[in-house]
Amino acid sequence: MLTDNISRSEDGSLLFAGQSVSALADRYGTPLYLMDEDRIRENCRMYREAFRADFGPDSLPLYAGKAASFRRMYRIVAEEGLGVDAVSPGEIATALSAGFPAEKIYYHGDGKTDADIAFALDRGVGCFIVDNGNELVSLNEAAGERSVCQKVLLRITPGIDPHTYAAINTGAVDVKFGVPVETGQAMEFVRAALTMKNLSVAGLHCHVGSMVFDEDVFLRTVDLMVGFMAEVRDELGLVFGELNLGGGYGVRYLDSDPPCDIPARLREVAAHLKARLSEASLPLPRFLMEPGRSIVADAGMTVYTVCSVKRIPGYKSYVITDGGMTDNPRFCLYGARYTVLHAQKKAGLRAIFDLAGRCCESGDIIQPAISLPAGTARGDRIAVCTTGAYNYSMASNYNRFPRPPIVMLRGGENYLAVKRETLEDVLALDI
Ligand code: LLP
Repeated sequence: MLTDNISRSEDGSLLFAGQSVSALADRYGTPLYLMDEDRIRENCRMYREAFRADFGPDSLPLYAGKAASFRRMYRIVAEEGLGVDAVSPGEIATALSAGFPAEKIYYHGDGKTDADIAFALDRGVGCFIVDNGNELVSLNEAAGERSVCQKVLLRITPGIDPHTYAAINTGAVDVKFGVPVETGQAMEFVRAALTMKNLSVAGLHCHVGSMVFDEDVFLRTVDLMVGFMAEVRDELGLVFGELNLGGGYGVRYLDSDPPCDIPARLREVAAHLKARLSEASLPLPRFLMEPGRSIVADAGMTVYTVCSVKRIPGYKSYVITDGGMTDNPRFCLYGARYTVLHAQKKAGLRAIFDLAGRCCESGDIIQPAISLPAGTARGDRIAVCTTGAYNYSMASNYNRFPRPPIVMLRGGENYLAVKRETLEDVLALDI
């Protein structure tokens, strides 16, 4: 199986985290997001332990809430001792409502409004990751009005192509995030930040992209960031105390995807970082990263019920489910690939289908050309694996479909973490 939390019982029925997927679907209905809490905790611990060992006790992985943001998730992350990367008042509010400590929240975003800045300052968010010069000025003013000195990291664009989907390539020079080093603007950004009386500049941030498999992407990023840190020290006399390299490690969606040994990668990054810093005579800063996908992706599975099976002789066949691009828009947006399994049957003749949703749009495909039992029929349960990241968090109410619930699986038990949306919820704001 793709991941070791997916298996089959002797009679062929699909198990996730050791629990029957069909039984969970019977109990909670479909479409249904399942989240393996034990796996989330293992992934958090893997980061925490690797960070401690490689970057020292001061280092901290921040869970990137954009991957899956709901109250229960932040409780788990808090218990596992990670910080949080939040990108909106909504993510901040969700984390705070779970009792997540405000000082361990790093607040991102390239378009923070005055209201957003006020919201985060008033709640004592630990650190702003300042994206650009406009934000620097507005944040400094707002902090001054409150007589606080706000800790900030400055987001730098390193100009590195991580060879990932274009839409999630965030490190190249001409992206909308951060301030580029190559054009000389990053140095001006740091210079300007140092004149802001109400900001305390703790360090630098960068993020080169998501679904990064290329081994040397983070090593090249280290080269660039350490080079820039040395330039800043030489020109402005400032030695940064924090370095945040963003998120991005890839996960396996298909059996054919390469594995990403994250602890091994982190060891390499640490060795490379320490070597570059020592060449530049710089001390090891407090090290941060912001993993999202690699903490939750393999903890997720989505379960659907088949509504219809359509065969178009000489063309193709569809399995049409009760979900779709509303709960998983990632194939539509990125051509993202997934492993799809029948929840009951595994043996027998197979056929190729497009797994479709029920939105009124022919592009509403969850996954094209997948192999399922030829006899797949209305009422069967279908599971899409590795949907823990960027599925629930990107879900929509297109066609006014209510969003699915999230059920957590822990130690052989299961419980509801997010309720199924109702038509009343969908209609709640209409006047
Ligand atoms: N930090 C920053 C500043 C980011 O922009 C991101 C992701 C992360 C951390 C977390 O990266 P991760 O470890 O999850 O790769 N919706 C897309 C992914 C967008 C990623 C956006 N930024 C998808 O479904 O693939």
